[in-house]
Amino acid sequence: MSKDLSLTTKDKTTKGKGCSNENHQRLSAGVEDKEMDNLRKWFSDKLALGLGNKDLMEKPKVLHTLDLDGIVDYIKSGNVRNIITMAGAGISTSAGIPDFRSPSSGLYSKLCGFDLPYPEAIFEIELLNKKGLLLRHYTQNVDALERVAGIPAEKLVEAHGTLHTSRCINPECREEYDRKWMTEKVLADVVPRCEQCKAVVKPDAVFFGEPLPERFRLVEEDFPNCDLLIILGTSLVVQPFSSLVDRVPPRCPRLLINHEEAGNEDPVMVVLGFSCGLQFHGADNFRDVAWLGDCDEGCYLFAEKLGWKEDLKSLIENGCQSEAISTVETGAAGST
Ligand code: OAD
Repeated sequence: MSKDLSLTTKDKTTKGKGCSNENHQRLSAGVEDKEMDNLRKWFSDKLALGLGNKDLMEKPKVLHTLDLDGIVDYIKSGNVRNIITMAGAGISTSAGIPDFRSPSSGLYSKLCGFDLPYPEAIFEIELLNKKGLLLRHYTQNVDALERVAGIPAEKLVEAHGTLHTSRCINPECREEYDRKWMTEKVLADVVPRCEQCKAVVKPDAVFFGEPLPERFRLVEEDFPNCDLLIILGTSLVVQPFSSLVDRVPPRCPRLLINHEEAGNEDPVMVVLGFSCGLQFHGADNFRDVAWLGDCDEGCYLFAEKLGWKEDLKSLIENGCQSEAISTVETGAAGST
């Protein structure tokens, strides 16, 4: 991208549009640069890319190496204060909950009841919180495992809602029901009906076409302040969640821990001169790292490299079970 733009600038300068003096030429090139920047910014703003920024052209050195060690060094440098984690179904699979798009999926089949082994990747997020580094955890998961693992409600944005609570669909009523109530209805194979008004009761999970929860608005204040984005176990194909990767500042490193690469830069947008999505390959990459493999394994290795292995172990072993139970029983991730 930087190459394209500097080439354009150079062409315009040498052709000169009849400019005789060098300063005038520079000035005129500067104005054209600015126009180009404004144009890029306009497109960027219109398309909500958040990348109309000249910083990107300079390829800053934010990571020593483009791998897990580079991210670890970056954290150890002490300059990381606000980590945002983004997750999808892949962080729950080790708890026996299938994801959506892996070939062997069996959707939500094991969701009822929380007598499941705890997935380590979720505890990694809670460990970041305990270290005071977690700005927010954004999840697409509706299984409420993050709540169970003890991630405090104010640190959690359940972007696609939750199955943990349900609500009467009657706008005049909106009576709330808990998981136990809904589970009983499902197991009894009856349509859940509101005890107040007899309208249907629907889980608080977001269905396609429905608006996202109000809390998703936290994106606006969180992402500009993010200094490390960690993306775990998601195919990054569902919008608007997947485009959150573009909402962090242009220099912010982005780490993907997943079975396979996801959210790759859109080639069409690259041709248009925009960076959009994650860019693991190519000479222009200075901040995106993919660690490919199992989420739990990646998180364990990450903790080990940070010198936090014992902390993670004890969090998993003794952990936040009591904290988790109280979070689950008191319910919603309702406040910031
Ligand atoms: P997907 O099933 O689309 O993607 C899960 C990703 O995690 C895939 O790339 C898997 O390869 C990877 N994966 C699975 N298990 C893993 C593991 N143990 N370690 C590492 N990677 C693993 O699920 P999501 O991206 O979460 O929306 O799907 C997003 C949304 O699609 C869901 O929230 C849901 C669905 O439609 C709604 O319900 C609105």
